[in-house]
Amino acid sequence: MLRKVWQPLTSWFEQNKREMEWRSNPLPYYVWVSEIMLQQTRVETVRPYFHRFINELPDIHALAVCGEERLLKLWEGLGYYNRVRNMQKAARIVMEEYGGELPSDPALLRKLPGIGSYTAGAIASIACHIPAPAVDGNVLRVLSRLTGSLACIDDAKVKVHFEELIQELLDEEDAPDPGIFNQALMELGALVCLPGGTARCAQCPLREWCAALRLGELDSIPVRKPKKPRRIEKRTILAVRDASCTVIRKRPDSGLLAGLWELPSLEGDLTDVEALEEARRIGIRPVRILPLPEAKHIFSHVEWHMKGYLVLAEELEGLAEGYLAIEPERTRREYSIPAAYARYTEYLNIRPGIQTEPGGEF
Ligand code: ADE
Repeated sequence: MLRKVWQPLTSWFEQNKREMEWRSNPLPYYVWVSEIMLQQTRVETVRPYFHRFINELPDIHALAVCGEERLLKLWEGLGYYNRVRNMQKAARIVMEEYGGELPSDPALLRKLPGIGSYTAGAIASIACHIPAPAVDGNVLRVLSRLTGSLACIDDAKVKVHFEELIQELLDEEDAPDPGIFNQALMELGALVCLPGGTARCAQCPLREWCAALRLGELDSIPVRKPKKPRRIEKRTILAVRDASCTVIRKRPDSGLLAGLWELPSLEGDLTDVEALEEARRIGIRPVRILPLPEAKHIFSHVEWHMKGYLVLAEELEGLAEGYLAIEPERTRREYSIPAAYARYTEYLNIRPGIQTEPGGEF
């Protein structure tokens, strides 16, 4: 099947591909950073993050020696912070074992923290032209529809099956460039072979070979496992300020948002009296308390349903251990507060996430 479609697919790609900074200059390090960012976010969102990251950490050595707070700050707003921590662990290994250059062998890449078969295949094929598959969710959808597969794509064996199919094609004598072929599949999944009822089959270069289209099964392919409902956690957030400072604290080293900074918060739906009690326990001397709007933040397995209070306080000093009184401007520059708190940091003049200035040169 893939033998028949690779030519129309890659010529469609050459005519329709989006300009991407890491695509026009596919150094292994750039492909790695972009692929990790793209695992969780769309291309348009990634662009400014990618620019800032590469400007500040232009190579693997810079990533390996970057301080943790700075690293997390560069990732702030992207979520899944362990991904960037794993990148740093991998960068340190690459410095020690490979002289600062990522290996091009996908089997060696897969041994590095945070690099699975998809990322290894993407780096090896796009940056080094090594014949290796790179099968992500988009590619699983394209291949399932093309072949009319009713196998569940959440089953790891299905991914292995499609990887083998691609490997066979890439190992043939007249095979396409592996990086171009893999990206063409990804791009088709991102621009044309869209999920659910949104597929743009009229624009698809592969429509004459597509089994799902022929069988009228576009809505039912790919087959997915039903998702477990997310656990709902109620939280109460305290946005505290005196004349010049606000209060933050570091989250525990493991679990959700591990090691990041946050506003003081508690599990549960607290009344203003309970919130004041908590504020006093932290060593805050409240002058006024005002309710703030409710907010929701969705993580992969949990939803936070939050309420908040703005606590105006006398001069912040002598706070309980682990709590920091700090100027909002310093927080914005130096401490990474996850986007989950964005609805409340607004009241403290802390703007989370990236300032979307045009990316600089890199
Ligand atoms: N999604 C993730 N990586 C991609 C890439 N290299 N090209 C297109 N879409 C992608």
